[in-house]
Amino acid sequence: MQSIEGEYRQILVVLRDREVTYLTSAKGKVSRLERRTETKQTAVGTNDRHKRYLLNEGDDVPAMVDLGIFTHEGKVVAGMYNKFRQINRFLEILNDVFKDRTEKITLVDFGCGKSYLTFIIYHYLVNIRGLEAEIIGYDLKSDVVRECNALAEKYGYTSLRFVVADVTRDPLYDGHIDAVVSLHACDIATDYALHFAVTHDVPYIFSVPCCQHEVNSQIGFGGDMDILLRYGIVKERVSALLTDSVRALLIEDAGYKVDVMEFVDMSHSPKNIMLRCVYTGKTSHSGAEQVETLMRKYHFRQTLYDLLCGK
Ligand SMILES: C[S@@+](CC[C@H](N)C(=O)[O-])C[C@H]1O[C@@H](n2cnc3c(N)ncnc32)[C@H](O)[C@@H]1O
Repeated sequence: MQSIEGEYRQILVVLRDREVTYLTSAKGKVSRLERRTETKQTAVGTNDRHKRYLLNEGDDVPAMVDLGIFTHEGKVVAGMYNKFRQINRFLEILNDVFKDRTEKITLVDFGCGKSYLTFIIYHYLVNIRGLEAEIIGYDLKSDVVRECNALAEKYGYTSLRFVVADVTRDPLYDGHIDAVVSLHACDIATDYALHFAVTHDVPYIFSVPCCQHEVNSQIGFGGDMDILLRYGIVKERVSALLTDSVRALLIEDAGYKVDVMEFVDMSHSPKNIMLRCVYTGKTSHSGAEQVETLMRKYHFRQTLYDLLCGK
């Protein structure tokens, strides 16, 4: 206690199960008070590992082992916990929309990458819920697509397939689709996913955008909000939020109810906004008008606007 004498009047030490307060009186006498506290649930701590998900540690999903999410003992691989949480949360949101569904579900994943999400959706719908599901994952990378197809074959996931495609220009599946999903599809790949959904009468869209560079690279001073464009990191974040707001407005115009929701806690991923869109048929033009005004004023263009409303 020598070191606190004369330095501080009060020190609070917070431990896992108790708080200790050291108080220094006017005469320099130090007293110690201790209070037991509840063990707090932390967002990223070990306690969170026991939260019940749709996919849980210990579940027998061999494909998750091959994908490097689970160890052979069924534990989440160190370093993959954020991805584990993201795919669980995504699955939860998707499953909530389809909870009463008994007929076949057809789903397309734009920018599926290693396809953790695609595999877990398939596993959950087919193996756990016993539904018929057809799922296609698109990605640019042929080696990754090859590995994903080999894995689907290995586990007899007969209606899960992966296709090499540039979603910004290649022809894609043209049959009925119930949902378009995209998890961190880079930059404008997200706009193409949204555009595809809107133009193919897809009733549900679940999209978590990332790398929203397009607006950030063009936007310039133009009005009352210039302060938000002055500092690089603020401009980058504002541009990303503006991009997703523009997307949400345009999808609303196209007849969807759009929820812009927190996907996972910010501490688990900064790419944490999901656009959850459900087709209602209530179309409008007011979103596009607001977007046009903003684009003129702040000197930028946006791919989804160009795709849906013409250049
Ligand atoms: C950040 S990764 C996300 C992968 C996966 N969805 C996930 O969350 O783990 C983005 C993926 O999008 C793919 N991608 C980017 N642009 C694309 C395009 N134009 N067409 C198809 N795939 C694209 C990339 O190859 C990459 O695998």
